Amino acid sequence: MTHTSKPASEQNRDAKGNHRKSVAEKREHGKDIAVRGKGLHRRKFLGGMAGAGIAAVVGAGTTFSLLSGAAKNKASAADSTLVIPDLLEGTTSDSTTTFTLEAKTGTAEVLSGVTSDTMGYNQSFLGPTMKWTNGDTVLLNITNSLGEDTTVHFHGAHVPPKMDGGPQVAFSDGTTWSPTFTVKDPATTLWYHPHALGTTAKQAVHGLAGMIIVEDSSDASAALPSDYGVDDIPLIFQCLATDSAGDIKYDLTGYLSSGLSYPLLLNGTNVDSTTLGFTATKTRTRFRVLNASPSDIITVQRSDGGTLSQIATDQGYLTEATDVTSIRLVAGARAEFVMDLSADATLQAVVTTGWVRGGSGTFDVLAITASGTDTPDDLPSSLNTIDRYDTSDFTARTITLGQSGASMLINGSAGITMDSMAMISTTLGSKEIWTITNSTQLEHSFHLHDVPYQLIAINGEAPTGVELGWYDTYEVVGGGSIQIAMEFTDFADDTYMYMLHCHLLQHEDEGMMASLMVTDDGTSTTTTDTSDTSDDSTATASASASASATDDSTATATASASPTDS
Ligand code: C2O
Ligand code: CU
Repeated sequence: MTHTSKPASEQNRDAKGNHRKSVAEKREHGKDIAVRGKGLHRRKFLGGMAGAGIAAVVGAGTTFSLLSGAAKNKASAADSTLVIPDLLEGTTSDSTTTFTLEAKTGTAEVLSGVTSDTMGYNQSFLGPTMKWTNGDTVLLNITNSLGEDTTVHFHGAHVPPKMDGGPQVAFSDGTTWSPTFTVKDPATTLWYHPHALGTTAKQAVHGLAGMIIVEDSSDASAALPSDYGVDDIPLIFQCLATDSAGDIKYDLTGYLSSGLSYPLLLNGTNVDSTTLGFTATKTRTRFRVLNASPSDIITVQRSDGGTLSQIATDQGYLTEATDVTSIRLVAGARAEFVMDLSADATLQAVVTTGWVRGGSGTFDVLAITASGTDTPDDLPSSLNTIDRYDTSDFTARTITLGQSGASMLINGSAGITMDSMAMISTTLGSKEIWTITNSTQLEHSFHLHDVPYQLIAINGEAPTGVELGWYDTYEVVGGGSIQIAMEFTDFADDTYMYMLHCHLLQHEDEGMMASLMVTDDGTSTTTTDTSDTSDDSTATASASASASATDDSTATATASASPTDS
């Protein structure tokens, strides 16, 4: 009767360049017709108001209701403006910037008109954006109020393994984990999300995810838009699965239950039938896109087929801005692009199922009103220097992504406990080339903690264009393979491990995760420079300087994690 019970393959056939659902299907939820009507009015409204300070006008409900002629549109008008996640202000003293986060439960509207039980950081759903500055020391005081264990992983950050938020540092309800480290990443878009064994998908789909913006003092950063929420805009996409009661699904049993729909959210707002509005007050706007979906693939493009000027991949700037017609992001991946807006433009998200079932279709997600009158300088001709690895003397390793029944494997092991997962052991300073082979017919998203990697081959082909950037999360299609190269700099530990895994969160929870132990065998002096060494000891020193908070919570974490380990 509705789209909710159709398999993904059938939904694909519904896709025709815009919102995929028929009008009849929209009737399933009482508000949908009204929402659609609002969307139409909204688009007209935006068009007519170009340059007139849309945010102020949208706040004036009476003006809007006169235009729309329907009282019920008054309340929903605000819903159709892009929500920008709050910026979390840190407090700086003794050259350490402290951020306070609380993982907690709440409720939110994931499916239009339906209330879901959710989780968020400092709020009901999703979390605030953090800004970190390269070279600064940060301290995070993260309190768990979820009623169950959690961790907070800084996805893409180059931090010591003990501070990385992997499963070994799970911390229990009512406790606070206080990692601290020096920010060594260059300008990047990272994110944070839970990473405890077996509960990552559940906690992330319920809303535990937020963006991290790392700023640096490079010429490229100085030249690019960086006014958060004004000309530097986060776009966090999630394609979730929920039943008609709003119960968000996260595992195979849940995804195979009947009556599901697959809402697409942009910064926490359902955009299935709504195009959000954003007024660009500067001619040039930078967008940071994060695919925080558990498994579905998000492709961003312009509705007019025009190009986006991509400036960054997962792990920082490309060598130069590169015109692309679309940006395809597997689960966990990020990209940045800029648009020089001399006319209004609409961004679309194309959703492709990455898992057994999921979303599909092309959605007009963001109507951008161009109201800037400034003339930006040309983009810098060079944004970054990327020395491509010569991998001839790199250590080779093979990582096989496999499956056995409902268990997902890396190198033959289902990593559902710390003891059962395969462990990759390497040494500080080691340079390696890994062949990631997908022996399944399923889609995977290969994520490596700790250090960025370069793509050396994608299904046997040499990378080109934006594929020459730095990554930490990359697609491995069914039966396909990628070759990646990396160097293990700065951090070693003989207790705490990094992780490597599929970022389809269900696969991760089903065992497609291995650990990475980087130890220091004392031979790494040629690859670890002195500044790196001193930074490393600074991180260690400040970890112990923050004293009881860090050490106590780690002790708690180890204690609470061990029952599941054995
Ligand atoms: Cu985004 Cu190991 O995770
Ligand atoms: Cu996978």
